[in-house]
This record gives sequence, C-alpha cells and structure tokens, in this order.
Amino acid sequence: MTTRKIIMDCDPGHDDAIAIILAAARPELEILAITTVSGNAEIEKTTMNALKVCDLVSRPDVVVSKGASEPLIRIRETAPGIHGDSGLDGPELPEPSRSWSGEHGADTIIRLVKESKEPVTILPTGPLTNIALALTKAPEIKDNIEEIVLMGGGTFGNWTPTAEFNIWADPEAAKKVFDSGLPIVVMGLDITHQALATKEVIDQVNQIDNNVAKIVGELLVFFASTYKEMFDFDGAPVHDVLTVAYCVAPELFKTKDVNVTVETKGEFTAGTTLVDLHGVTGREVNAKFGLELDVEGFWKLMIEALKKY
Ligand code: RIB
Ligand code: CA
Repeated sequence: MTTRKIIMDCDPGHDDAIAIILAAARPELEILAITTVSGNAEIEKTTMNALKVCDLVSRPDVVVSKGASEPLIRIRETAPGIHGDSGLDGPELPEPSRSWSGEHGADTIIRLVKESKEPVTILPTGPLTNIALALTKAPEIKDNIEEIVLMGGGTFGNWTPTAEFNIWADPEAAKKVFDSGLPIVVMGLDITHQALATKEVIDQVNQIDNNVAKIVGELLVFFASTYKEMFDFDGAPVHDVLTVAYCVAPELFKTKDVNVTVETKGEFTAGTTLVDLHGVTGREVNAKFGLELDVEGFWKLMIEALKKY
C-alpha cells in the first residue's frame, strides 16, 4: 500500500484529538509528526494533550513538537468554555509517557518536509501560526508540500458573527497561508457543522468494546455538552476530523473551487474568510471549499476506525 505522509498541526482540543485517533487508525496515512499550537488552550496544555492522545493510541513513534504559544501579532485567546480548562476536559487520561521533541513545531515542519522523499500533506486544525512561521522561515518547503487540508473559516462565524475561531485567532497567519499559492482544501463551518456527534452516534461509539472508543465517547459527551450550552446544538461538531476523513475518503465530500480571502484589517470583521462561492470578486481560485458531507458514510468510517483499536 502506498502511504500518504502527513503532518498534523493542532490545538487538542476534543475534535483535534479525535482527528489524531482517526489518522492513527488508517494504515494509508504515515503521521510524520504532530505539531502543536496555542488555540483551544495554551500551548503547554495543547502539547500535553497531544502527547496523551499519542499514548492513548499507542503511538510513541510519532514526533510531537511544541509550536507557537502566541499568534503572530495579536493577543492570544483560548476557548475553555468549549474544551474546558485542560483543553481536553471529560475523560481522565494518564500523564504522558514522554516529553515533546524539544524542536519548535515550525522547525519540525520545515525539517520533515525537506527530508521527505515524497510530498507531505499538512493538516492544520488550529490557528495557522506554525504554518505561517514555517512558510516565512523556509518558503522553499512549498515545493514538497502536496496540499494543505485545513479546518477553518466558512461563510459564517462561531467566534464572532463572521469569523471562525482558528482563523480569528491569527488572521495574519491565515492570510499568509491562503496567499501562499499552495493547494488548500478548506473544511469550514459550512461542512463541519454537518458532522454532528449526536446522542445516536455517541451511543454507537459506546457500544465499541475498547479503551480508545471509551475515551472518544467521553470526549464527545463533554464536547456535546458545551456545544449545547454555548450554541444549543444537538450534538458536537467534530470539525477537525473532517481533514483526516478527506485525506482517506475524498468521495465523502462535495467541494467547490473558490477564492478565499482573509480579512485582517476590519475592526469588527478581522478573521472573516470571504468565500467567493459565485466568483463575483474575480479573484483567482485558491482553495477547494467543503460544501457537503456524506454524513452516514463519515460516521461509518469513524466507527470502523474505532473498532480497530
Ligand atoms: O472553530 C472550530 C475550530 O476551533 C476547531 O479546530 C476546534 O478544535 C477549535 O480549534
Ligand atoms: Ca482544533
């Protein structure tokens, strides 16, 4: 089987954690590294959480590198109201068996992309600070990046009325990525809100008899509770998991080639992604934008992955 080399840049985060769990269950994906960024929680917590999840799925081989603790120029803001103070509230996970690599996340991205004999796919599921830093420090890595499959943005917001959290947290970094000329697949809120872990889904997860599924069930119960409280959702949208699902089953996704521009100047609109669904701006296409998810197919893929543990 040919494997696809990926680097997961994330801010675990309940949905980031489940994305790692799905990726680790798929033999066609070779996780070169997990790089962490401040987002859902401070960098120390997101890094600790990434290490804990690697232990959960018995992947001590996956390099975990701590990345940016702050956005490029803005003040850091986190999301304890959604992910809890630890960033991964709900299940009790043991202290990690190891520390992070000691190499900055952006440097790990640069090193591994340069070393790889095949192009590398990068899956950012937090603020894009590390990606922007890597592209600034070593723009030549663009020659060996297959594509960027990111969770972020959308035609509406969840942190402001028009801005989604990952983009809002570091709009300047996001603009650098969207203006990079790299092939980008955008899993924005328009499609990630279709991937709802409802009570029925959580019941299915809880019928799987292994520890990983048990922990995922507990993650989803917590995540669904905060989404109910904050947004009155009847389920937890597992946003980040769609980046991994797209890499292994693109047939589950309907996308549209569009221009996505990031607003960085607006007093009230900074972090907004202007998704030109109808080509009215005349700006060139720079992204595949996720529109529709085969929801049944997605959850079938997720459940099958959990059963493998
Ligand atoms: O807006 C949703 C995104 O913000 C997800 O990646 C979630 O994990 C948080 O990082
Ligand atoms: Ca995330």
